[in-house]
Amino acid sequence: MIASKSGKEDFLSHTNWMSFGEFAKKHGCFIIGRKTFESVQKWPDYNFNDIDAKLKIVISSNKDLELEPPYLLANSPKDAMGKAAAMNFESAILTGGSTINSAFLNENLIDEVMINIEPAIIGSGIPLFAECDFEKRLSFIDSVRIASDILQVRYKVNKN
Ligand SMILES: NC(=O)c1ccc[n+]([C@@H]2O[C@H](COP(=O)([O-])OP(=O)(O)OC[C@H]3O[C@@H](n4cnc5c(N)ncnc54)[C@H](OP(=O)(O)O)[C@@H]3O)[C@@H](O)[C@H]2O)c1
Repeated sequence: MIASKSGKEDFLSHTNWMSFGEFAKKHGCFIIGRKTFESVQKWPDYNFNDIDAKLKIVISSNKDLELEPPYLLANSPKDAMGKAAAMNFESAILTGGSTINSAFLNENLIDEVMINIEPAIIGSGIPLFAECDFEKRLSFIDSVRIASDILQVRYKVNKN
């Protein structure tokens, strides 16, 4: 689970946010679903504005959604990839949520999956991938212990 049913994510650690910030800076571009964007922008302590990335793409089917730079609107996963490529980004991090994760995976647009495993089990909530009719196989790349209680695991998505 990536959030409780009500969208709360208070089980996430500061380390997790810092890890996201580090990767967003490294790739220079991150992509988020409209609901994740709106939900995180209301958090009291963390905000996407504080993340050091040159391009922040928000995906929505609403073509009139107004965003200030460095936020940029994309109307589909392919549109987001095209806009990042047109601005010469070679890679980007897709940061969720559940619906947009599945939309990208379903279109074979995810090369790697990186998960930070927090020490919490959420019985009912928003899954990492929203229900969708696919079955993907992964190959393990590596794992790193990024805090005493958080394991970061990386998998390659097998596309054949
Ligand atoms: N634990 C974590 O690390 C983590 C990470 C990210 C998110 N989250 C949590 O996940 C929750 C949000 O997940 P979610 O699944 O409800 O929402 P989401 O994936 O963040 O956003 C869904 C929205 O994205 C747009 N969208 C999705 N697929 C699209 C497509 N193919 N084409 C065009 N637009 C598309 C739509 O926006 P419109 O309705 O505007 O068309 C849709 O309503 C939040 O509670 C968030 O905080 C947790």
